[in-house]
Amino acid sequence: MIEGFSKLSKENKISLLALNEESQSILAQALVNSDNISSIINDLSENTITHFALPMGVVPNVFVNGEEYFLPLVTEESSVVAAIAKAAKFWWKYGGFKAEIIGTLKKGHVHFFWRGSPELLKGKFDNLKEFITLRIAPLNRKMKKRGAGVQDITLIDKTSILEFYFQIEISFETADAMGANFINSCLEEASKALNQFVSCDSKLSTKLLEINMSILSNYTPESKVTAQVSCKIPELNAYGDSIGVFDYSNKFIRAVQIANIDISRAVTHNKGIYNGVDSLALATGNDWRAIEACGHAYASKGGSYKSLSKAWVENDYFNFMLELPIAVGTVGGITNLHPIAKIAMQILENPNVKVLMQLMAVSGLAANFSAINALISSGIQKGHMKMHLTNILKQLRATQQQIELANTYFVDKTISYSEVERWLKQNNKSK
Ligand code: MEV
Repeated sequence: MIEGFSKLSKENKISLLALNEESQSILAQALVNSDNISSIINDLSENTITHFALPMGVVPNVFVNGEEYFLPLVTEESSVVAAIAKAAKFWWKYGGFKAEIIGTLKKGHVHFFWRGSPELLKGKFDNLKEFITLRIAPLNRKMKKRGAGVQDITLIDKTSILEFYFQIEISFETADAMGANFINSCLEEASKALNQFVSCDSKLSTKLLEINMSILSNYTPESKVTAQVSCKIPELNAYGDSIGVFDYSNKFIRAVQIANIDISRAVTHNKGIYNGVDSLALATGNDWRAIEACGHAYASKGGSYKSLSKAWVENDYFNFMLELPIAVGTVGGITNLHPIAKIAMQILENPNVKVLMQLMAVSGLAANFSAINALISSGIQKGHMKMHLTNILKQLRATQQQIELANTYFVDKTISYSEVERWLKQNNKSK
């Protein structure tokens, strides 16, 4: 375990990471001047006028399935990295995190309306499926070679919910790619195949067919990962005692129960989980909007929106677990293009998709653990405002010396913008 990581200089922090010389030099330059990476970033989007920087921090001591990691996290929220680091350090003592992949299947759909006989369409589906399979075979070839690609093609009758509405559902494995382009290309080809099939069959007619759209689904409940920690109840309770909270494990479990039955709390609770997940997704160039949208939909799969994490006691052990649907990639896309995302992948020692999914779940669980810890003990503001103090001081244009003095002065005081402003004025040091 690395002690005192946060107190090291940036250069010393970087020297502890698994980076080659080129990456070390890109990072060192990016800290001073990011012009050298701007040309790649400028071309990622349209009408670029500049690029928008966010801090990337690293969390040491993340022990997952017996391996030690540094997590690179990109977030604007000051307390997230510190919170995850605190949780990682705590769970290191109890064997770290166990993470497990439940599946990696993704799906996409051709959404269409069929105004003819549903039975006739269903009767023709085996032939249609064969035709679609043939048509998408050239697109599927490379993925198939990697042991992935199209897994199944089915017809789904949705007419009981929406008149004439059907879907052709195609399921995919995409190996280490996020696979969005691959999936959408296959679906668009399948939609052309559907149209051609209908136009060539004398019993069917394109006049009865409206293809509405073809698109992957960001709802990926079969691409799923779990992360879990456990320790003996007295071990967690001893931690509670040390911060003045009696019967800590039960209080913790009740905090999760609240998030399970109350939507107002559940959304905030899950948002805290995504503090950890998104910051790793952003660092590695993954689509955090897709990850979030999927997770929130999954949180309401039972009909009401609930906590994504669970806490319980079993055989004298306290258990805390997170189950997340996640679709990410470690090859292709921004991950291999954005110079800093490439470095983030190197810091993680170039994981495959399954490992990255596990690390994202771990990051989410760690963020959630620290948030609940703070909430059921000192409250969230203490940690938040401590980190926020520097931001306020910088807004007020305090000097480095003033920042250091303020950190000592406010150590046991309530921090607010007006209090910090007053303190600066009182000490005759305001701007
Ligand atoms: C703040 O970004 C996240 C928290 O609100 C999460 C939570 O309440 O569990 C602290």
